[in-house]
Amino acid sequence: MKVTIVGAGAVGASCAEYIAIQNFASEVVIVDIKENFAEGKAMDLMQTSSLLKFDTKIIGSTNDYAKTAGSDVAVITSGIPRKPGMTREELIGINAGIVKSVSENLVKHSPNVIIIVVSNPMDTMTYLAHKVTGLSKNRIIGMGGALDSARFKFRLAEAVECPQSDVNCMVIGGHSDTGMLPLTRLATRNSVNVSQFLSEERLEEVAKATMVGGATLTSMLGTSAWYAPGAAVSVMVHAIATDAKKMFPCSAFLDGEYGLSDISIGVPCIIGKEGLEKIVEIELSEAERNKLSESAAAVSKTNTLLEV
Ligand code: LAC
Repeated sequence: MKVTIVGAGAVGASCAEYIAIQNFASEVVIVDIKENFAEGKAMDLMQTSSLLKFDTKIIGSTNDYAKTAGSDVAVITSGIPRKPGMTREELIGINAGIVKSVSENLVKHSPNVIIIVVSNPMDTMTYLAHKVTGLSKNRIIGMGGALDSARFKFRLAEAVECPQSDVNCMVIGGHSDTGMLPLTRLATRNSVNVSQFLSEERLEEVAKATMVGGATLTSMLGTSAWYAPGAAVSVMVHAIATDAKKMFPCSAFLDGEYGLSDISIGVPCIIGKEGLEKIVEIELSEAERNKLSESAAAVSKTNTLLEV
């Protein structure tokens, strides 16, 4: 499998690293607009190959999309990250233009590519990639839910005082501080509902900490996080490469599912060799449905700022 990663910043480099060390891709191409930057990251990573024992070939390219030709999967991480105090939505002005031109360049050289969008505001950038590429909706996947669910698992395990491998839970809705919907009602520890271990108030605190997970790290790091975003992307790419049919919440283009249309937002999806192969419609409570509608209204409002 050939994978392109656009953007050689911290998130893009982490994606490349985690994909390479899993040793399932034949080639990873990192593209960046900064002269020699992607080439440098690629060379540094390639010098870990014998140490970490992977054979994935990593190459860098300064904005030359010819090198990305024939990619099976492309990950868009380019654009600016948020600074402390900023919302993801505030990035739209700069990032929309970047994501639009990157998407167009990618499909020009890889007409059958599956695109994973990471750039923020992620749901809106996923919607934009869908509109500008004309790719079928299974080939455009927004990465948010896999990351937010990993953050939910971290917070939940911390509260329950158990290993993360004991808990299972998921976040749907928009990838934003206020739009995420951690599904606390369905969270389990080894198939036992977590309400057996935590009070409603504690569970509510876990949900709140999950929703601002990205903002918390941005205030600590001075820029947005990269390890967990990179790892979440690598797990999604691995599911495509191995045709795993794994279920992740992803930002999917909806066409009536969950009562929503003409929007990309986080819902449970099956990921396999065709990309986003199926949207899973789970039964939500009335309160959850209302929250998802509110989250969708906010994403749609951000989408109106796009010129597509
Ligand atoms: C975050 C960014 C990637 O949540 O949106 O860390």
